[in-house]
Amino acid sequence: MTAVQPALPEEKSAEGSVDQRREFDRLIDADMRIEPRDWMPDAYRKTLIRQISQHAHSEIIGMQPEGNWITRAPSLKRKAILMAKVQDEAGHGLYLYSAAQTLGIDRETMFEQLVTGAAKYSSIFNYTTPTWADMGSIGWLVDGAAICNQVPLCRASYGPYGRAMTRICKEESFHQRQGFEILLELMRGTDAQKAMAQESVNRWYAPALMMFGPPDEDSPNSQRSMAWKIKRFSNDDLRQRFVDMLVPQAEVLGITLPDPDIKWNEERGHYDFGPLDWDEFYEVLAGRGQANAVRVARRKKAHEDGAWVREAARACADAQAAERMAS
Ligand SMILES: [Fe+2]
Ligand SMILES: [Fe+2]
Repeated sequence: MTAVQPALPEEKSAEGSVDQRREFDRLIDADMRIEPRDWMPDAYRKTLIRQISQHAHSEIIGMQPEGNWITRAPSLKRKAILMAKVQDEAGHGLYLYSAAQTLGIDRETMFEQLVTGAAKYSSIFNYTTPTWADMGSIGWLVDGAAICNQVPLCRASYGPYGRAMTRICKEESFHQRQGFEILLELMRGTDAQKAMAQESVNRWYAPALMMFGPPDEDSPNSQRSMAWKIKRFSNDDLRQRFVDMLVPQAEVLGITLPDPDIKWNEERGHYDFGPLDWDEFYEVLAGRGQANAVRVARRKKAHEDGAWVREAARACADAQAAERMAS
């Protein structure tokens, strides 16, 4: 009897069967979630892997500019708050790496992509933090921009990503407030403290606005991510929301946002603001920022220093598996 080669089941096809594609579209249209076991188009999977891993890398690299101040925080209270915040960022990175792993990429590969430059992380973390006020600016502006960006991601169509973002956003809101409060305290202080806060905001304001990515006309992947309901608002819409949120908060702080073009536009119902220096953004993105090389080198060293933890965890898991087999 000759063995008949069975036809490949339809679900193995990269293109997916008509039914699979239809089911995927139905879930997206109905605002329902795609889960790891569901069929999904290859491009959707790749887009998510790129976005989630970049996001995870940003959380982990983002620990460095603030970690720099933990030992120098001006009081025990500030030290405790800053440590809690930096630890939160480590947790965010871990949730996100786990979410990316459900799409079929492993942690070592993601790490390699980060240290070889194949994967990017948010270029804001390539700026240095020379003053204590920078802890205030990062919390207020960088975590503030992160919230604007991430709240809509809680509704991202990919289940593990959306669920990770829900938890992350709760913590980001604490981060933003602690930054605002650092600046508020400085602005109620001496002239030197006020000047330090203002000088720091002057440096962080524009890079924070650029965290939303290039203008919509230069962001070709955005449209597709919006059609897949990964992204819900365009870069420019999110940037506008952020500016609208910042202006009244800056008034409370008594800080001047370093943009003379900021002005309420009655007709639009939004604040107008001036153009951003996108050349600087692309320079930093290309690796020529203040601290790109340091950030990646430190990450690499931390990974190497942590090798014994991974080995111990593996040995422990192997021993537990052997125990289960024996019983
Ligand atoms: Fe975070
Ligand atoms: Fe944060």
